[in-house]
Amino acid sequence: MNEQRYAVFGHPIEHSLSPCIHTLFAEQEGRPIEYDKILVPQNGFAQSLRAFADRGGVGANVTVPFKIEASTLVDEQSNVAARAGAVNTLIRLPDAEDGRIRWSGDNTDGIGLVADIARLDCAIQNRSILIIGAGGAARGVLPSLIDCHPSRIVIVNRTHKKAYDLAKLFGLESFHLDTMDFSADIVINATSASLHQESMKLPKKIFQSAQLAYDMVYAAEDTPFIKEAKAQGVPNTSDGLGMLVEQAAESYRLWRGFTPERKSVLRYMRETIIMRSQKRTT
Ligand code: ATR
Repeated sequence: MNEQRYAVFGHPIEHSLSPCIHTLFAEQEGRPIEYDKILVPQNGFAQSLRAFADRGGVGANVTVPFKIEASTLVDEQSNVAARAGAVNTLIRLPDAEDGRIRWSGDNTDGIGLVADIARLDCAIQNRSILIIGAGGAARGVLPSLIDCHPSRIVIVNRTHKKAYDLAKLFGLESFHLDTMDFSADIVINATSASLHQESMKLPKKIFQSAQLAYDMVYAAEDTPFIKEAKAQGVPNTSDGLGMLVEQAAESYRLWRGFTPERKSVLRYMRETIIMRSQKRTT
């Protein structure tokens, strides 16, 4: 088995920053790794993973839209992954006696978000959190946020039924966006709106007592959500690039037992996404 073969699986995958981030981590560790991007055809995740394992793959990241399917393919998974219902990190286990390939699954998205909020000097314990969005991204980070013991977590979503169902799953509260009368210490955008630079119809009050507005999407320029938070005077704002680096660092630690330094990598990735966006516009 090649000890150093890793990959990220997704669709689309072309713009993934993971190979760059993990290569920087490996340079820190002083042991080069191979880290590929694998574009998975529709309905082809299990087959792609199998082929990767046959080529000696020992660890993988899984991104949209395969995280839920990944959680159904693993032989064992962490408590956080089980509660998230999604796996973003696969760790190869020793093959079964009959030669069957076995994987352990984890989900480092929530730990990544929590670590990045700490980087921003914001406490979670005893603070109130508002999550906007009720899809896979929101669910993926909820277990780790809950484990930090905030005073309250409230979920809102454009389609309230989805917020209600997700809140119920974790014993949390949900509000209708239109009638919401609540402002939290930390407001997290877990919708996919910023991916398309879309503005959301948010009540002004949403940022009233916010100390931190966090967009889980990363972008070279402020997303509409961050712009709105800044306009409303929120003192601390961030996109999700730090979360991306932190979740990758946690995956790397799970695979290799080495915890990379993240600040310099985050700085490099920030420059990288700005450069990429400038290239696109020139
Ligand atoms: P993901 O896995 O990224 O969470 P998803 O499961 O498709 O993707 O969920 C996308 C989330 O973003 C949903 O909460 C969606 O709201 P709806 O459930 O009402 O569709 C939210 N979302 C996407 N675009 C949005 C927009 N322009 N305004 C508000 N919410 C938006």
